[in-house]
Amino acid sequence: MAAPNLLQLSPPTCDDRLIWDVERSFYHFPTLAAADELGLFPLLDTNPMTAAQVGQALSLGPRATEALLGVLTSLGFLTQSHGHFSLSGVSRTYLLPGSPYYRGSIIKLFGNVPLTSATILEALKKERASAYGGGEMWETHEMDSALAEGFTHAMHCQSLPLAMGVALNGDFHGIKRVLDVGGGSGCFCIVVAQRWPGTTFTIMELPAVSKVAQRYIAEHGLQDRINTVELDMFKDRWPREYDGVFFSNVFHDWDRDRCLFLSRRAFEALPSGGRIFVNEMLLDETKDRPLAATSFSMTMMVYTQGKQYSANELREILGESGFEDIRVTPTHCYYSLVTARKR
Ligand SMILES: C[S@@+](CC[C@H](N)C(=O)[O-])C[C@H]1O[C@@H](n2cnc3c(N)ncnc32)[C@H](O)[C@@H]1O
Repeated sequence: MAAPNLLQLSPPTCDDRLIWDVERSFYHFPTLAAADELGLFPLLDTNPMTAAQVGQALSLGPRATEALLGVLTSLGFLTQSHGHFSLSGVSRTYLLPGSPYYRGSIIKLFGNVPLTSATILEALKKERASAYGGGEMWETHEMDSALAEGFTHAMHCQSLPLAMGVALNGDFHGIKRVLDVGGGSGCFCIVVAQRWPGTTFTIMELPAVSKVAQRYIAEHGLQDRINTVELDMFKDRWPREYDGVFFSNVFHDWDRDRCLFLSRRAFEALPSGGRIFVNEMLLDETKDRPLAATSFSMTMMVYTQGKQYSANELREILGESGFEDIRVTPTHCYYSLVTARKR
């Protein structure tokens, strides 16, 4: 058989930049996690440094330093001017261990989780979370309190800027008592309590996470305004003495039927005039952007039974449960607060 003459092929009609970029993106997050572990960001906190100075300080050779600084600068975590590297605003805010918004615990958590196409394929084909050895994530946390604690600290650092967004942009006028369902570390209650001094809060959580929340509440001296109840939101009866029910990053853990169940439970538990608050990263109505939300849906495939919802999907769920006056308020970054009222 004659050897194929490749020059007879028509050249590609478009270049493969997108393929290159996505293939190489496999290295972005682990490089960020490695830089965090090396202490690169605090090193550049006070003074810009040359590559040679960074290499010397971190005991890295010139090839390794060039690779590290190159990836982080092209991603936007560093800037380079006249051969000196400095922190960008994002790095200064989220990557310095001394910053209140330091993302170290979530970077460390996911920096150590290997993700392969096999994990994604299993989740896609079986329509079942493949992380945690196929076990239910929250049940696994309840059986392993160290895992629950590590995850809750990681969620705390991711959620703190979101909580600021909710406290500053959410309308809690007239709300006296809020039930935060699946409230995690309590960071939403803590920040909203500081912004809205007339309101008290209860975090409804599973026992292992509830204990972590109690520590965060005590750290902020808010024990008189925030308490916790150890209840299973699906199995136990919900307390009734609240005029606000808040969920953050909870609907995205569950399928539509479970979200409808939670929304109906909230409706039943609220008095007339009571309000529901749902804080989520929203998908566009076309379900194909933003990239952070479409990728977050894939994360939910791998870890949970849920997905990211669009504003209209959440509107429908709340409307079907009986809520009226449904509003969507952008709060922080990709997140919005969907609120509604029980007539
Ligand atoms: C993704 S985290 C969100 C935490 C927090 N709301 C935030 O946005 O940072 C979901 C939370 O739901 C809690 N959770 C899961 N199943 C639950 C259940 N059956 N009853 C109560 N809480 C539950 C988990 O323990 C976890 O803290």
